[in-house]
Amino acid sequence: MSKFTAPGLSTESADEVAGILQERLSALNDLHLTLKHIHWNVVGANFIGVHEMIDPQVELVRGYADTLAERIATLGSSPNGTAKAIEADRSWSDYSIGRDTAQAHLGALDLVYDGFITSHRNAIEKIGELDPITEDVLIGQTAELEKFQWFVRAHLESYTGELKHSGASGEKEAADAAR
Ligand SMILES: [Fe+2]
Repeated sequence: MSKFTAPGLSTESADEVAGILQERLSALNDLHLTLKHIHWNVVGANFIGVHEMIDPQVELVRGYADTLAERIATLGSSPNGTAKAIEADRSWSDYSIGRDTAQAHLGALDLVYDGFITSHRNAIEKIGELDPITEDVLIGQTAELEKFQWFVRAHLESYTGELKHSGASGEKEAADAAR
């Protein structure tokens, strides 16, 4: 139980919000590592465009992790930013594509963003009932992440607006379909 929190918020609510934020902090830490992994492993045509598109997103996502960690501290709890915390908090597995083409990585990354954004939206829904200030932070982050997902999808979209990997059930299946 936190000893202090933001004014006007009960410590019970603050602790509940911090618990949800901890899971999202680990998700953001995992996401920026995954993005760097793609930055290093992408090959083939469109290499430089995708390699360079990823780095500003790494910076953005690292910044979002910092924001959530500091929000947890503001609420009176202790953020956990270790590799073990990522492993303990996550309900998903490691990104599964190694050296591969830009299209394959983008197909898999689209699925990564599907999962991440859905979970951020779920957190918004739960936190919205407890703390509108934290909710506002998550809403702002989600809008930017959705915009980047559009950048990813735009590389994969046909002129009729279709995605070859749509309906893929995992990263490998999405990569195979998009490659
Ligand atoms: Fe680099």
